[in-house]
Amino acid sequence: MTESPAPLPFIDLKAQYARLKPAIDARIAAVLEHGQYIMGPEVAELEAALATFAGGGHAVAVGSGTDALLIALMAEGIGRGDAVFVPTFTFPATAEVICLLGAVPVFVDVDPATCNLEPASLEAAVEAVANAGHLRPRAAIAVDLYGLPANYRAIAPIAERHGLFLLADGAQSFGGATGDGRVGSLAPATALSFFPAKPLGCYGDGGALLTDDAERAARWRSIRAHGKGNGKYDIVRIGVNGRLDTLQAAILMAKLAVLEAELDARECVAGAYDRALGQAVDRPARPANGRHAWAQYTIRTPIRDAVAARLRERGIPTAIYYPRPLHLQPAYAETCETPVPLDTSEALAHQVLSLPMHPYLEAGESARIGAEVLAALEAGA
Ligand SMILES: Cc1ncc(COP(=O)(O)O)c(C=O)c1O
Repeated sequence: MTESPAPLPFIDLKAQYARLKPAIDARIAAVLEHGQYIMGPEVAELEAALATFAGGGHAVAVGSGTDALLIALMAEGIGRGDAVFVPTFTFPATAEVICLLGAVPVFVDVDPATCNLEPASLEAAVEAVANAGHLRPRAAIAVDLYGLPANYRAIAPIAERHGLFLLADGAQSFGGATGDGRVGSLAPATALSFFPAKPLGCYGDGGALLTDDAERAARWRSIRAHGKGNGKYDIVRIGVNGRLDTLQAAILMAKLAVLEAELDARECVAGAYDRALGQAVDRPARPANGRHAWAQYTIRTPIRDAVAARLRERGIPTAIYYPRPLHLQPAYAETCETPVPLDTSEALAHQVLSLPMHPYLEAGESARIGAEVLAALEAGA
């Protein structure tokens, strides 16, 4: 009997900690020493560093990626009677914040090559809602799925033409870029998540918002702290408790210092997969003149489940992001609108398969995974 290899981790946070242990431990110890657990100095330090990394502007650190999306919509006054356009092929947080505010998610299809919002589908959905007349088109959220920035060049003019607030859900794409700039500078507002498995992740929940607009950033700061004005109990708007913990900011500072190097390492893993798979499968799209943040390396195959099962037998974990588009989830059955066909999203949900992806995957391992995926595809799994 042949022994099966020990299972690989899908994402290896322990290897990252082994590399960064002295810096992370020192950062945590410094917070324990000064004791300012809420809005300590590391929060402002992180905000400045995030803004610089993204190419300027303002960063506001918040409690999670979901908080970031929620606060961004609250700051625009989105609520009852408003339509917010969002791809159906995304993580639930992108749409749930719309419902939490009493607005209606209007689902839009994605481009099969990028898995990101399809601009023509957005335009058709906005026109359909405007013509139907019962909802006000107010905002669009484009998602940078798997770390690939959405097509903001095509989406931004549509948003502008229809007077929509354009929010980038960059939960998976911080560090990514297109020829027009880095994630954080590609849309009027960008939401980030620092969930541990993200390209920049903390050790719990965390997130941030990025913008060039100082007034918008000031509204975000107020909303994340219960709608505070100038004084502590000067409450000028409805807000939430949406602050990032000081400890998480401190950990993120240590991790941000190696983000560039980690993005390069992710690119090496992606390159190894590309080489191993050759023409056997549709490989993930890359931004022209830009950078993929490689939160996930996701292939598409009609024999997805069989490939995943065969890889599992060989100790190679995979993941499916996402097995069901949101418009087919029971929670959205009565709360969403679907004025345009969503066929691509429905098809992708049966085809996508994400391979192990993290900066500490060694070259031999990525080559072996690539070879096993190729063998599974060629065998019809
Ligand atoms: C596309 C997308 N949007 C939003 C979120 C929400 O982020 P968080 O888990 O930090 O609330 C995630 C997290 O997985 C995500 O992938």
